[in-house]
Amino acid sequence: MITREEQTARREQNAALTRTGAGTPMGDLLRRYWIPALIATELPEPDCPPIRAPLLGEKLVAFRDSEGRIALVDEFCAHRRVSLWFGRNEECGLRCAYHGWKFDVTGQCVDLPSEPEDSGVRQRMRIKSYPCIEQGGVIWAYMGPPELRPPPPGLEWSLTPAPQRFISKRFEACNFMQALEGGIDSSHVGFLHRGQFRRGETASQQIGAMIEGDSPVFEIEPYDGGLLIAARRKVADQYYWRVTPWIAPFHQLVPRRHDSSPIFGHSWVPIDDEHCWAWSYGYHPDRALTRAELADYRNGGGIFEKTLPGAFVPVANKDNHYLMDRNAQVAGIDFSGIAGIAAQDSSLQESMGKIVDRSLENLVATDRAIVMTRRSLLGAIAANRTGAPLPGLAPESQRVRSCGVTLATDIPFELGARTLLFPHRQTRREERAGAAE
Ligand SMILES: [Fe+2]
Repeated sequence: MITREEQTARREQNAALTRTGAGTPMGDLLRRYWIPALIATELPEPDCPPIRAPLLGEKLVAFRDSEGRIALVDEFCAHRRVSLWFGRNEECGLRCAYHGWKFDVTGQCVDLPSEPEDSGVRQRMRIKSYPCIEQGGVIWAYMGPPELRPPPPGLEWSLTPAPQRFISKRFEACNFMQALEGGIDSSHVGFLHRGQFRRGETASQQIGAMIEGDSPVFEIEPYDGGLLIAARRKVADQYYWRVTPWIAPFHQLVPRRHDSSPIFGHSWVPIDDEHCWAWSYGYHPDRALTRAELADYRNGGGIFEKTLPGAFVPVANKDNHYLMDRNAQVAGIDFSGIAGIAAQDSSLQESMGKIVDRSLENLVATDRAIVMTRRSLLGAIAANRTGAPLPGLAPESQRVRSCGVTLATDIPFELGARTLLFPHRQTRREERAGAAE
């Protein structure tokens, strides 16, 4: 039994981890980073229709102006607070449909038809606006203090040419931490996703160990971007390691199935405290994705999911019980009877409720990655208060890859897998040689 004090402390910690509005500890932390806000094609061309783009509990609209500049502004007009989603995107600004007030990409009112221009009213009128950049097929927003704006992201997938990457997102009806913790919890893969791996085209000895073997042993190493979460399983007389980097604050990379396959990853971005975007991407650092790979991803294969036309809501969702097939569950085709990795994850993450009460959990050894990620985020919240450096903020710290690798049992994974994890960094020998020069 836990004490009442312990219960209270756990609830306070839960609130700190899950509340993302402006002025909350986590909200202030997340606002220090560039945030994936939209797929670039959601705003396909200058003067295209504005779209709603709520983020971190703030209701916002996005538009691309006549010169192609991206705007992310308050959804509501400064005048009488009607939604600018109904507005007209015309001649370098968004014009409110109610009384014709018009705002540019910086949020400045540039036309206020009912007031004389020399009254000064128009000049004083503005709505909040956040800077955006386009990189890697994604529109990124920065919602933090202007003077602390970091350089553009260094995440490898976002720097990869368009033919080498595939980007998607899906709506998830739960807090972002639930989805994030699902992503870094590699011990569920051998249960929930067992069917997928068994059917996988590369049911290697290593993958076999993952789905049939004992529980993995986790080793977790901090690095400047966040945590290297390594799951170790015995294969013959060696260790098979799967290393899943968590890149602060909400990015993750999934190990490749084999050396020539693309790298996959996720970002879990709060829409508000009860909903998030589960971004999923696949990229190959060295080659274009094949037609077959792209067709598979568009069709909801692998970590991707089929969504309803015109929306990013999964076809299999809680309203239709994720198309669960109890016969497939009984027959062991899919462990839970739900098809597809993404739907399997969403079904269970959403089943916990919008914000799970973490004070009721009973964590065990295989939950270490979750515990350490929470600790890192709480540490980053504290660092943000005192102005100390934040993990994963510098673009270089985001240049990491996931990997699966077999190593002799006496080699630490962070040494044995170093060149796979950090191909862009110098080896220690090069560093020493550089320092000696
Ligand atoms: Fe999963």
